[in-house]
Amino acid sequence: MDLASKIRSIYDYPIDGIIFRDITTLLKDGDAFKASIDAVTESFKEDIDLVVGIEARGFIIGAAVAYSLGCGFVPIRKPGKLPAKKISSEYELEYGTDSIEMHSDAIKKGQKVLIVDDLLATGGTAEASVNLVEELGGEIVGLSFLIELVDLKGREKLKGYRVKSVVEFNGD
Ligand code: PRP
Ligand code: MG
Repeated sequence: MDLASKIRSIYDYPIDGIIFRDITTLLKDGDAFKASIDAVTESFKEDIDLVVGIEARGFIIGAAVAYSLGCGFVPIRKPGKLPAKKISSEYELEYGTDSIEMHSDAIKKGQKVLIVDDLLATGGTAEASVNLVEELGGEIVGLSFLIELVDLKGREKLKGYRVKSVVEFNGD
């Protein structure tokens, strides 16, 4: 299936010069959604203990991947959302920094983890996620994304890890 054609591109959103890749058009198509989850999951079927998904769109993809693999799901959340003891990791934005958080007891040392998000852009979010998983002693089997914005070179921040993406965009 041509999954790229199911993704809606919105020019100059949220600001001028940005092309927003909108997955809502793919998600509402049952066949496309199923094919997307199968593709994100494929090649990561070996004994994974946990899928880690990143708020918000990474929850949609990650939870379905965890169900498909029959393993647990751990949420990485935006600041201030998790109720129990947590760790946090900062990452760079174009202007300033942001951070993400995970519960301190979410991963046991040595557990095999697949990190899932809808999209790899600059790689800042993914790199911060890697840091959280490794701080708790998780063993990262790989990172799997539905979309990769190749021109933003996020992969360069993930050297040494298995990185998979299903649909690539390079500029427009
Ligand atoms: C988007 C996207 C990825 C992240 C990728 O999340 O869903 O998580 O940006 O960008 P990066 O590779 O440059 O770090 P965002 O926080 O914008 O929105 P969301 O809450 O809808 O997932
Ligand atoms: Mg996101």
